[in-house]
Amino acid sequence: MNYDFSVSAPREDTNAEKYALREKLFGTNEVLPVWVADMDIDTPCFVLEAVKKRLEHPVIGYEEVPPSMFLAQIEWMKNNHGAEFALEEMLYSHSVVASMNVAIEAFTQKGDKVIVQTPVYPPFFHSVIEHERELLKNPLKHREDGSYTFDIDDLKSKIDKKTKLLLLCSPHNPVGRVWRREELEEILELCLKHNIVVFSDEIHCDLVYVPNVHIPFASLNQRAREITVTAIGPGKTFNMAGFAISAVAIPNKELRAKFKNVYDRIHFAHGCSLSHAAFEAAYREGKEWLEALQIHLLKNYRMLDEVCKKFGHRIKLTPMEGTYLAWLDCRGLGLCDKELRDFFVHKAGLGLSTGISFGREGSGFMRLNFAVSSAKMAQVIEKLQKALQEHRN
Ligand SMILES: Cc1ncc(COP(=O)(O)O)c(C=O)c1O
Repeated sequence: MNYDFSVSAPREDTNAEKYALREKLFGTNEVLPVWVADMDIDTPCFVLEAVKKRLEHPVIGYEEVPPSMFLAQIEWMKNNHGAEFALEEMLYSHSVVASMNVAIEAFTQKGDKVIVQTPVYPPFFHSVIEHERELLKNPLKHREDGSYTFDIDDLKSKIDKKTKLLLLCSPHNPVGRVWRREELEEILELCLKHNIVVFSDEIHCDLVYVPNVHIPFASLNQRAREITVTAIGPGKTFNMAGFAISAVAIPNKELRAKFKNVYDRIHFAHGCSLSHAAFEAAYREGKEWLEALQIHLLKNYRMLDEVCKKFGHRIKLTPMEGTYLAWLDCRGLGLCDKELRDFFVHKAGLGLSTGISFGREGSGFMRLNFAVSSAKMAQVIEKLQKALQEHRN
């Protein structure tokens, strides 16, 4: 089947967060929003069809999570990522961030340290602070070529007896890394040595570009399986975040019991019947659509790269291995963080996420979501080009 990403449905009047919050975030509705991590690309038809089919039954009462739903995800994870999970290891969650918060409650006490590798998706550090745990910041190392890696020496020097949990972002939002096996193994060795549980947020695992390969942390080896809580879901991959559904895989019985204890106490329940149908259809039928999407996203990324290169050192695109979030090194523009945001809003008419919101290390950077239709991408490019042209003159 041919999938067409040339245009997407308008979302302005749909209550879409990306559009509805423009005035609040950017002080104007006159921006093309390329911030929050969902796509301006239509949710695939096979997902929508499954929901329509479910609606043919006139009762939407309480529903158990159907085992077939998790089995579809287990099969997907095995076939596409080489991860082996069993049905009894899977738990429903309405949100990966909520699962992360359960993990913090379940595996740490007030005052314990939780490792976070900045710059990173803001709920990573907000969740730690809000639970009154101590943030152990292990900033990523910024390399010569603009890419990032773990700073293992820094981590070694900071871990102590109070360090109980590591929140891993894999692939990494916003720096676009798909961690290599050797990198993950170094983290694993340290966590094993110090009895640290790993919460591995792998929500972006399907959005990875060849030759990069996503390696689920739990799949590294048996010992990794025993200390890892993996969060995975179809929300990013199939642009269905509005269904609010994901899963947590916890192979270790003891960790699962601890997690379940908190999870049951705050009543995660079983989610929405329509989401169950959408989730299963996505994993059962989504392979071909995803392959077409990846080609489209790469095309968008290359267009962005070309514009940045055209204007020399002003904006440098961080090498991207995964996710649809470009991490723009804007330090060459010579603007402070507020000026940088204003430059994009007022000169380019684009609403990006500020780098500084991902941690202090994000100062001078901006994050641009390039998961848009070809028509929208052409607008993004035109706006950016015009603003950079003006800046040069
Ligand atoms: C790394 C990462 N984790 C989690 C989420 C949000 O997941 P959820 O909506 O399931 O809480 C995002 C969304 O941008 C993300 O980038």
